[in-house]
Amino acid sequence: MRILGIETTCDETAAAVVGVSFDGRGEILSNEVLSQIAEHAAYGGVVPEIAARAHVEVLDRLIARALKKAGCTIKDIDGIAAAAGPGLIGGVLVGLTTAKAMALVTRKPLMAVNHLEAHALTARLTDGVGFPYLLLLASGGHTQLVAVRGVGDYVRIGTTIDDAIGEAFDKVAKLLGLPYPGGPHVEKEAAKGNPERFALPRPMQGRAEPNFSLSGLKTAVRLEAERIAPLTQSDVADLCASFQAAVVDVVVDRTRVALRAFRDIAGHPTALVVAGGVSANGAVRSGLQRLAVETGLRLIAPPLNLCGDNGAMIAWAGLERLRLGLIDDIAAPARARWPL
Ligand code: KG4
Ligand code: ZN
Repeated sequence: MRILGIETTCDETAAAVVGVSFDGRGEILSNEVLSQIAEHAAYGGVVPEIAARAHVEVLDRLIARALKKAGCTIKDIDGIAAAAGPGLIGGVLVGLTTAKAMALVTRKPLMAVNHLEAHALTARLTDGVGFPYLLLLASGGHTQLVAVRGVGDYVRIGTTIDDAIGEAFDKVAKLLGLPYPGGPHVEKEAAKGNPERFALPRPMQGRAEPNFSLSGLKTAVRLEAERIAPLTQSDVADLCASFQAAVVDVVVDRTRVALRAFRDIAGHPTALVVAGGVSANGAVRSGLQRLAVETGLRLIAPPLNLCGDNGAMIAWAGLERLRLGLIDDIAAPARARWPL
């Protein structure tokens, strides 16, 4: 079985072909990603109209390239999957409409995939992890702790009451004058800094409900930055290191609480899984690895090229759904909002 996956929900245009080997494991046959970072950088964030236009300009060529690199033509494909949301609606429409047109012309099944579900199932593509598992999904738009009990069976245990973790990284980067998207730049600066120089808060730490709140932490960074301005390079590095250390403490604490709640909802987890753009962060991974050891679980974090948005995760989610006969109608809507 080979599935074409298309991703256009934010600022990455992506197309991939994923197959399944004889033992049921996923196989990435191609995975083409074109980032629009350069187009948005001047604005300090993603501009929806620019994103949609950029997807239109490159998607056809990218799909052709993904098919070619996978050594196949559209005739060899068993189904076409596209992210149908959540995301910036103009971009979502570009990918979903393209997938619909291809499905109609070729009479192949269409899978209108939830982008968050695709992040959630990536660990099964890369590591063949079985259900149920605890997922920490941390990206620019979402922060959720989810009990993944099966394909389409997700119970949200915790979420953020304000900023997403990636968003907090991006906002801190912006206020410190670092480029967009901020996460990787904050991590790079943090590596040079002293995480103990600034005593930043650990919002929600110790609370019984496994939710996050990050806007107060971001404000604390801003107040410290204003207090010691003008900032030297080492001030920026120390602020990044202190901020990242606070985030890691909160992530580990909140995930530990979610693990307790998980047992009532889904029994014993097969693994602790992290996904989404923030899962590329080495300090976050190390913190979760410590928690995994403490709780006797395996931590599964995606390889770096599958942490951010990509087509392979959409293709894989489509494949999982097609295997279960979960095919979508050609009228499947594009959705700006679509909770798991
Ligand atoms: O999953 P993703 O590519 O797109 C969304 O669906 O949002 O996540 C992007 C987010 C951005 O906020 C970015 O700053 C953050 O992930 N991010 C990181 C790192 N790499 C990407 N945050 C912290 N450390 C990183 N190394
Ligand atoms: Zn994403």
